[in-house]
Amino acid sequence: MPEPTPEKRPFSKILIVGAGPSGLLLALLLSKHGIPTHILEAASHLDPQPRAAHYGAPAIPEFYRAGIIEKMAERGGLVLGGMCWRYPQADGEEEEGKAGYEEHGIVAGFDAGQVMREVEVELDGGKKKMDLRTHCLALQELDQLMLEEVTERYGGTVAWEHRVVGVGQDDEGAWCEVEVGESKEKKVVRGDYVVGCDGANSAVRRALFGEEFPGFTWDAQIIATNTYYPFEKYGWWDANFIIHPEHFFMAAKLTSTGLYRITYGETPNLTHSQYLSRQPHKFHTILPGHPLPSDYQTINFSPYRMHQRCAPKFRVGRVLLAADAAHLCNPWGGLGITGGFVDVGGLYECLSGIWDGKADEGILEVYSEKRIEKWKTIIDPISQENFRRVSDREPGTRLERDGFLQLLKRGETDQVLLKELLMGPMEVRYDFTQHYHDAGKK
Ligand SMILES: Cc1cc2nc3c(=O)[nH]c(=O)nc-3n(C[C@H](O)[C@H](O)[C@H](O)COP(=O)(O)OP(=O)(O)OC[C@H]3O[C@@H](n4cnc5c(N)ncnc54)[C@H](O)[C@@H]3O)c2cc1C
Ligand SMILES: *[C@@H]1O[C@H](CO)[C@@H](O)[C@H](O)[C@H]1NC(C)=O
Repeated sequence: MPEPTPEKRPFSKILIVGAGPSGLLLALLLSKHGIPTHILEAASHLDPQPRAAHYGAPAIPEFYRAGIIEKMAERGGLVLGGMCWRYPQADGEEEEGKAGYEEHGIVAGFDAGQVMREVEVELDGGKKKMDLRTHCLALQELDQLMLEEVTERYGGTVAWEHRVVGVGQDDEGAWCEVEVGESKEKKVVRGDYVVGCDGANSAVRRALFGEEFPGFTWDAQIIATNTYYPFEKYGWWDANFIIHPEHFFMAAKLTSTGLYRITYGETPNLTHSQYLSRQPHKFHTILPGHPLPSDYQTINFSPYRMHQRCAPKFRVGRVLLAADAAHLCNPWGGLGITGGFVDVGGLYECLSGIWDGKADEGILEVYSEKRIEKWKTIIDPISQENFRRVSDREPGTRLERDGFLQLLKRGETDQVLLKELLMGPMEVRYDFTQHYHDAGKK
C-alpha cells in the first residue's frame, strides 16, 4: 500500500498531556517522524525533583530511536558497569563478626560491560548494535534534552501552565478541558488522539476510570537523596544494593564527579522534618566508613511512598495512557520509567503505523492489551521481588533462598548465562509492527 499523501493522512495532531519523561519521549518520537504533536503541561517548567536517573536495557533502544544516545553522553550521561548486592554492616546492636557474613561483603554481582556493551537489536526493520548497559542521566537533564529536541528541532509545541481537568471524545476527535495559568481560565484544546502522560495522579486516567487504579501501596517508606560521598574509597561499585529489613539502601553513581543516588528505607508515617533530622544518624549507621555530616554533601532529599498499580485499560477510544499514568511500581531495580519508555516506543509504533497507512485504529487495542500483559507478567512481579530482596528479614540467608542471586553468582564465571540473565528484562518490549498490514510479507 502506498503511503498516504499529506492531505489524506488519517489524522492531523496528537495531544499529549504532561511534559514529563514519557510525554517528552512520545512527542520526540512522533515529531521526528513528521507527526504534529502538542503537549499540555500543568507546571510552568520541568519537574526538578530527584526521581529516575537510571534506565535499564529495555529502554535503551528508544534512546537510539529518538536519536539522543550521543547527546545524553555529551550532557554528562554515564553507563553503569558493576552492579552488586551487599550484606549490611552491624547496626550497633549486634556485635561485629557475629552476623555470619562479611560486613558490606558482596552477595552477588556482575559487570554488564563484558556482555551488554554491544548487542544486536532489531528495530524499525533493521539490525543495530547497541550498548544495552544501564544508562544514567538525572531525569531533569534528560527531560531538558528531549524538550529541546522536540521544540527546537522537530517543531513540536508545549503549552505550559495548561492543567488538564477533563477529557472528551467523539467520532471526529478528542479534546482536553484545560485551566490556564493562575486565573484558571477555562479552555478546550482539540486533537485527534489524547495521550495521558501525566504521571501517577493522572487527570486523563481519572477522566476514564475515576478513582479506580487497582493494586496496592506498600507499608514502607523510602527517601531518595543525591549525595556527594567517596564510595570509590571503600571499593564500592557503580551500583550497590544493601540488603537489610530496616537499613536497606541503594547507592548508585549519578555523575563522574562523585555524586550518588542514595535511596534508603525509613519508618513510614513520619513528617518531612522528622525524616530530615533522622538523616545524619541514618547515614552514620548505614554507609561505609560511618560518616559524619561533614563527610558528605546531600543536595537533594525527597521522601516517597511506593505503589504497585495498573489501570484497567490503556485505551478507551481515542484516549490513551502511558507510563506512570497507566501503571506504577516501586523503584528498586529501576523498572519505573524504563517500563514507561517501553510503552511510549510501542505507542509510537502504533500511531506512526496508522499515520503511514500501515495499520488501522484496532492496533491501539493491541497496545492496551499487550502493555497490560507485560506489566502483569513481568514488571509487577519482578519489581515486587526486587523490593523484597533488598528489604529481606534475614540478609545472611537470602542467597540460599534466592534463585536469581544464585544464577547471578554462577554468571560470575559463565558469560553465556550472564548475558541470558541480563537480557531477560528485554522481554518487557513488544514489537507492534508485527500487527501492520504488510507484516510477514517482506
Ligand atoms: C525516588 C525515585 C527514584 C526513581 N528511580 C527510577 C529509576 O532509576 N529508573 C526508572 O526507570 N524509574 C525510576 N523512578 C520512576 C520514575 O521517576 C517515574 O516512573 C517517571 O518519573 C514517570 O514519568 P511520567 O512521564 O510517566 O510521569 P511524571 O514524571 O510524573 O510526569 C508527569 C508530568 O505531567 C504533568 N501533569 C500532571 N498532571 C497534569 C495535568 N492534569 N495537566 C497537565 N499536566 C499534568 C506533571 O506536571 C509532570 O510534568 C523513580 C521514582 C522515584 C520516586
Ligand atoms: C502508616 O499509616 C497507614 C495509614 O494510616 C497505616 O495503614 C500503616 O499501618 C502505618 N504504618 C506504620 C508502619 O505505622
